[in-house]
Amino acid sequence: MANRKGIILAGGQGTRLHPITLGISKQLLPIYDKPMIYYPITVLMHSDIRDIAIITTPEDQAQFQRMLGDGSQWGINFTYLEQPSPDGLAQAYLLAEKFLDGAPSAMVLGDNIFFGHGLPELLGGANRRKTGGTVFGYRVADPERYGVIGFDDTGKVTSIIEKPKVPPSHYAVTGLYYLDGTAPERAKTIEKSARGELEITSLLETYLLEGKLNVEQMGRGYAWLDTGTHASLLDAGNFVRTLSERQGQQVGSPDEIAYDKEWISAQDLARRAEKFRKSNYGTYLQSLLAPSAHY
Ligand code: TTP
Repeated sequence: MANRKGIILAGGQGTRLHPITLGISKQLLPIYDKPMIYYPITVLMHSDIRDIAIITTPEDQAQFQRMLGDGSQWGINFTYLEQPSPDGLAQAYLLAEKFLDGAPSAMVLGDNIFFGHGLPELLGGANRRKTGGTVFGYRVADPERYGVIGFDDTGKVTSIIEKPKVPPSHYAVTGLYYLDGTAPERAKTIEKSARGELEITSLLETYLLEGKLNVEQMGRGYAWLDTGTHASLLDAGNFVRTLSERQGQQVGSPDEIAYDKEWISAQDLARRAEKFRKSNYGTYLQSLLAPSAHY
């Protein structure tokens, strides 16, 4: 079976961040010391996914390309696709149908940040499951803002409801979806919701109805951060700063992961460190080249 491919959905209008996002895409904004999109890229890299489609608005595509290039700096490959208007998350599978070419996929929203010990292992389980789909349930205080998971008395998942007025639980579906190669075909069968979007929950429902949806818990040891509002954007930046300065280790560095996975050489990393030598990020990359870097 074909290797799993990645999709980063980074379109949208970012209206809750106006006026900042009038001139720049949300996913290019900084989360402390790196662009927001670095974080979802690293999530896919943790799953050993090296072929990634980045979906953006047509207007923003050139800026993404300028920032991220073709991916070869990290030993991966980016394909850029356009979403002319934000018609919903499930539309990504229609736009990426040719790119996927029947392969299973992992899609991550370009403004979602995940952090936690054991994340690569958690993702590994989803990655190995070749048929059906896997999504992650995360407990939130305000479930009505998300796709919410309904459970029966035995804890079995019975429904996923988009932004319900009366949420059936506190468990939201995070913006990370591992789906098999049937996702584009399924996306063609769903209809737009009342708000005019192809909802990801409708797509997931097709898997759920066939008993092919695994819902894994992402427990309280993980952080799933939202970056969609002014306050949550600042909070996410502070979270990354607090953690990385305390530990002296980066959160969400594609350069570090590429080097760890031996997708790039020490020489490649040294070139990147040199390019960024005036920033702390460059100093950090340089430090990874020291023999004592892991201690
Ligand atoms: P949202 O936060 O729902 O939308 P948005 O980013 O446009 O922001 P706002 O609500 O402030 O207007 O989207 C979540 C993520 O999905 C975000 O990374 C943008 C992306 N997205 C698309 O790329 N295309 C779409 O059609 C939709 C609905 C979202």
